[in-house]
Amino acid sequence: MASAKKIVCLGAGYVGGPTMAVMALNNPDSQFYVTDQNAARIAAWNSAKLPIFEPGLDAIVEKIRDKNLFFRVINPTLLAEADVVFVCVGTPTKDYGEGKGMAADLQYTELAVRDIEKHCKSGTIIVEKSTVPVKTAEAILQIVNAQAGGKRFEVLSNPEFLAEGTAIQDLMNPDRVLIGHAETNAGVAAAETLKAFYTAWVKSERVLLTNVWSSELSKLVANAFLAQRVSSINSISALCEKTNASVREISRAIGHDSRIGPKFIEASVGFGGSCFKKDILNLVYICRQQGLTEVADYWQAVIDMNDYQMRRFVAQIIEMQFNSVAGKKIAILGFAFKPDTNDTRESPAIYVCKRLIEEKAQLFIHDPQALGNAKKDLAGIDSGVTYTLDIDAATEGAHALVILTQWKDYAALDYAKIFQRMQKPAFIFDGRAIVDAEALHTIGFNVAQIGVRAMRN
Ligand SMILES: NC(=O)c1ccc[n+]([C@@H]2O[C@H](COP(=O)([O-])OP(=O)(O)OC[C@H]3O[C@@H](n4cnc5c(N)ncnc54)[C@H](O)[C@@H]3O)[C@@H](O)[C@H]2O)c1
Repeated sequence: MASAKKIVCLGAGYVGGPTMAVMALNNPDSQFYVTDQNAARIAAWNSAKLPIFEPGLDAIVEKIRDKNLFFRVINPTLLAEADVVFVCVGTPTKDYGEGKGMAADLQYTELAVRDIEKHCKSGTIIVEKSTVPVKTAEAILQIVNAQAGGKRFEVLSNPEFLAEGTAIQDLMNPDRVLIGHAETNAGVAAAETLKAFYTAWVKSERVLLTNVWSSELSKLVANAFLAQRVSSINSISALCEKTNASVREISRAIGHDSRIGPKFIEASVGFGGSCFKKDILNLVYICRQQGLTEVADYWQAVIDMNDYQMRRFVAQIIEMQFNSVAGKKIAILGFAFKPDTNDTRESPAIYVCKRLIEEKAQLFIHDPQALGNAKKDLAGIDSGVTYTLDIDAATEGAHALVILTQWKDYAALDYAKIFQRMQKPAFIFDGRAIVDAEALHTIGFNVAQIGVRAMRN
């Protein structure tokens, strides 16, 4: 059990909020301050409607908010009193200068770290939870320990492996917790301090201590491997659509092989989310920097396959709509990059909708949680777009339905009723392979589902 401490987290986002909520729940004697410069985000965390949707999160926040979990705009006093500071700020792909479009943009990390150095007391443990390139902890250490005041800090790498949509479940029962530390007595002691917070609810053998390099690189590699599985099965989905094989049957068949396993082999319009693409691009960039061209090309292909999958999905929609969607009402079912989240970052829906808007389609977008973010993503090009929480309004009179998120409800809609009220011929493009394609074809739909040959009437 960790001794009572004051913890400050910089960054009240998809990682900072849920991570600290679960840590605070399990460490009731310590105080956790989740902070951000974004006052509106902090206000939302302190309101009845949290800024992020994540099953199970509301209940935890409601239980411990203002008891040992606090949401505050960042201020120097909080930092001055902190024993441990988690850095959970964004590390998006750089959109300028050296490494543009590839490398991680570490400006937020560096600003956070300089704030820590300025305001925190000597001995504060800095925990790098954001996903960062290898050697970032080393750079942080150089920055904080090189300042004139003579303060000393320990820097730990503690990458977060939660998946949005199941964040609370993942945090409550993690496969592993990784703590990378300097191979010094002080580094080991800092790692043990952090480990004590986790072992309040995680079995000790699941907390893995490694050197900092391995810890930082493990996070990038984990995401690269997961994304690679998606791209691998997506490549096979293209082949299935040309033949009489079904990708779902293939996933089932290979997933039963215990060496392969059933997870992350569901074909789809493509992976999204704030992490996969960004982290692989970062890995590719690091490999190129190290002169490992073949290794970089290998991982780049995972992203190229994902782009190809989205492109060919849109191409199929247009081709099956008699080569034009101009003026046609198209119902978009789902905008979030996956179910049970309102996050739309890098969602394939953004690409698909932008392309259909370019082709002058009239989009009616439905999503139970993500319409707010969808509006931001399509701002400036959405004069012909209607956002709705009403499935009937979205689908009535539509030429086509396009499923882009695997929300459970979309598998169980009354498609016979929807069909009656659509334009004919009616089409469904299932980018998540969730509907019963045969049954919909029997109703009368033309069905194009990822990974099976299109069923036309
Ligand atoms: N979202 C995920 O599923 C996930 C999973 C694992 C790891 N990660 C990694 O965790 C990190 C954070 O991701 P996220 O999705 O929570 O990002 P996010 O954009 O939701 O949140 C980051 C927050 O940090 C704040 N911030 C920036 N600079 C700050 C500073 N100096 N002080 C205080 N706050 C500051 C921003 O205002 C923002 O609210 C990234 O490196 C990401 O790659 C994300």
